[in-house]
Amino acid sequence: MTRGHSSSILIVDDEKYVRESLRMALEDHYVLHMARNGAEALAFFESRSVDIILLDIMLPDTDGRRLIPDFKAIDAGVEIIMVTALQDLQSGIEAMKNGAQDYLVKPFDIDNVKAIVARAVKKKTLQKEVFLLKHEIGHCRPFETMVGQNPEIKKVFRMIATIAPSEGTVLIQGESGTGKELVARAIHNQSGRAQNPFVVINCAAIPVTLMESELFGHRRGAFTGASRDCPGKLEIANTGTIFLDDIDSLSIKMQAKLLRVIQQKEFERLGTHRLIRADIRIIASSNQDLLALVAQNRFRQDLYYRLNVLPIVLPPLRERRDDIPFLLKHFLQIYAKRNGTPTKQLTPAAIEHLAAYDWPGNVRELENLVERICTINPERTIRLGNLPPLAAIASPKHQRPLREATQAFEKQYIESALEAANGNKTEAARRLGIHRNTLLSKTKELGIKKS
Ligand SMILES: Nc1ncnc2c1ncn2[C@@H]1O[C@H](COP(=O)(O)OP(=O)(O)OP(=O)(O)O)[C@@H](O)[C@H]1O
Ligand SMILES: [Mg+2]
Repeated sequence: MTRGHSSSILIVDDEKYVRESLRMALEDHYVLHMARNGAEALAFFESRSVDIILLDIMLPDTDGRRLIPDFKAIDAGVEIIMVTALQDLQSGIEAMKNGAQDYLVKPFDIDNVKAIVARAVKKKTLQKEVFLLKHEIGHCRPFETMVGQNPEIKKVFRMIATIAPSEGTVLIQGESGTGKELVARAIHNQSGRAQNPFVVINCAAIPVTLMESELFGHRRGAFTGASRDCPGKLEIANTGTIFLDDIDSLSIKMQAKLLRVIQQKEFERLGTHRLIRADIRIIASSNQDLLALVAQNRFRQDLYYRLNVLPIVLPPLRERRDDIPFLLKHFLQIYAKRNGTPTKQLTPAAIEHLAAYDWPGNVRELENLVERICTINPERTIRLGNLPPLAAIASPKHQRPLREATQAFEKQYIESALEAANGNKTEAARRLGIHRNTLLSKTKELGIKKS
């Protein structure tokens, strides 16, 4: 499951030929590090993380078994495989009681070495998976369909397919609800990292004071309240993709720290000096004009250029109105499936009305509307009159001036009365309690088409 070269192994043995024969057996598949004695091994492990340690028992400065608790104190998740001479088999077996996971017997049988190491790697991978499941971190969701026929959105689909296999950093910009997260997931799902974690960090939702620990993790006691060792999202995302949502909300200090990770491809947990290698694809998103924020010194220019390697800009829904009928149909089908009911239909007048609306909350707003009309309308056919007033459901962030909202409501209300009266103006005016002439002038003023 883990990508080919991402597991790292520390080989601790004082005999050169032992180190070399292990190197020959394992170097094709793993990143290897060497230490010749206990002190060197501990110093290395203090400064850098590895997944597995192959630990000789007879070391010049100590008994390898004594090192097990020290290694585990630094990182409880490390897998330790003892290396023992045939005549000393018993010590190897005993070491397993003290926390070692397995043992290898010298002289080595190469296939056996490979099999035992592969088993430890698998165990480590499974541990990571359990962790991800426990923390509900999206592993690889089933591919969500992206709907769109508009030429601009089709360009985006092609762009996703082109850039997904590369390792380049992606910056997705677009208004709220345009599908930035969906695009990020699509890139991950179509990349070579699809089987590895996809981790979302919502930069706007995490308090500034917690952000550093959220990203980098911490060691027990690193700050007040840090009661145990905790990996950060970067560590969890290793070998996979990290999605930095609303990146514009990162403080300038965190921007600098993130830049360092991108440049050096290494980071450390808070309160430690152990470097962790970062094998992470970064996808960032923002609903702001990041370049404008750079001009205002609110976003670091160097970070902007580091992120904007592969840019994707999602057009707002009002600039691709031709997609509105397709999206409506798509969500009507989704909700019917979810509720186990037949798919509802919208009348042409209702579709036309929805296609004319500005959708300040973009696709998310449209999706919410469909959910709402599916839930509250028992009928199979949804008419204009069944639609809630659209101005009222606009997201508060984008609320329109009262006059505009009132007009939008009037327009929809009159259209629905006309629809109910089958286009008969006198009847519609009667239903609305206004004079026929008032209705005619309102129709003109509000640009209501004859139906
Ligand atoms: N082209 C599309 N086809 C189908 N569903 C879409 C499309 N674009 C967006 N959606 C859906 O709309 C909703 C909002 O999309 P998403 O969360 O990706 O937007 P966003 O740009 O990240 O928004 P925000 O800036 O508010 O976080 C999601 O449920 C997503 O599945
Ligand atoms: Mg989002």
